[in-house]
Amino acid sequence: MASANRCSYTFEEYKESAEWLLAHTDKRPELVIICGSGLGTLAEQLEDKTSFKYQDIPHFPLSTVPGHEGRLVFGKLSGKQCVCMQGRFHFYEGYPMSKVTFPIRVFHLIGVKTLIVTNAAGGINRSFNVGDIMLIKDHLNIAGLSGQNPLCGQNDERFGVRFPCMSDAYDKQLLSLALEIAKEMNYSSFIHQGVYCMLAGPTYETIAECCMLNTLGADAVGMSTIPEVIVARHCGLRVFGLSLITNKVVMDYGTHEKANHEEVLQTCKLRAKDLQAFITKLVSKVD
Ligand SMILES: *[C@@H]1O[C@H](CO)[C@@H](O)[C@H](O)[C@H]1NC(C)=O
Ligand SMILES: *[C@@H]1O[C@H](CO)[C@@H](O)[C@H](O)[C@H]1NC(C)=O
Repeated sequence: MASANRCSYTFEEYKESAEWLLAHTDKRPELVIICGSGLGTLAEQLEDKTSFKYQDIPHFPLSTVPGHEGRLVFGKLSGKQCVCMQGRFHFYEGYPMSKVTFPIRVFHLIGVKTLIVTNAAGGINRSFNVGDIMLIKDHLNIAGLSGQNPLCGQNDERFGVRFPCMSDAYDKQLLSLALEIAKEMNYSSFIHQGVYCMLAGPTYETIAECCMLNTLGADAVGMSTIPEVIVARHCGLRVFGLSLITNKVVMDYGTHEKANHEEVLQTCKLRAKDLQAFITKLVSKVD
């Protein structure tokens, strides 16, 4: 398993994956949707589907988390060619950041221009309820601040610049489009904007950690998304992200509530339909 923990890929390896996909389907998606924890059913909505198991695509990592399927699904959503990642890769699975983000550069090489990324997250902001959706306006890259940034290492200029800007990570136009759609669909009561914070996981946060994140200005916390967003911005993709709030983090020593993965999957199921309708509408309006 020497190759399992390699810290970088060559340009040729990304290209081999891209060329394999281009040879195995004539679909040319403009948009990729990363389906987070339990949101994988979105891919079922695609029309005229072609799918590939991760294990069949050269160099693709394999997903090891329950609730994450491990397929790329190509097809049309709202008349637009899309590709859905059903199952993503996490740092806590033991993968280096280069592996977590491997697919993003492959999507770039097959011509994708926009990334829509979704995740399940714990609500820190006390005005969020379980089942709410938070549109990501910015992030706190705690894993990156502690040295785990996917762009660490030699920079390949064919993908992007050495020191990429992150103050515009989440596309403002897509964000305001999403807010408009939320209004139109009468979803405003459960759709918010906020700051997403990523921790490495796999442990959920301690009470002290939640209080710290709250102080730092995080509205939701999870274990994914930011590495993919960074690599996507580096190679010039537009990014839109959202979090489904699947639980409220514990910030009070008097409580007996405990974070658990079951609650997360349960909430995902309850809100799946609204979320699908929302993303379908958004995709229809992305230019
Ligand atoms: C929008 O939602 C509110 C509160 O949930 C409800 O009272 C109202 O009738 C809804 N409006 C439409 C147009 O669906
Ligand atoms: C929490 O979310 C609400 C609703 O989106 C927002 O108005 C508020 O500023 C947030 N609170 C904090 C402390 O960030």
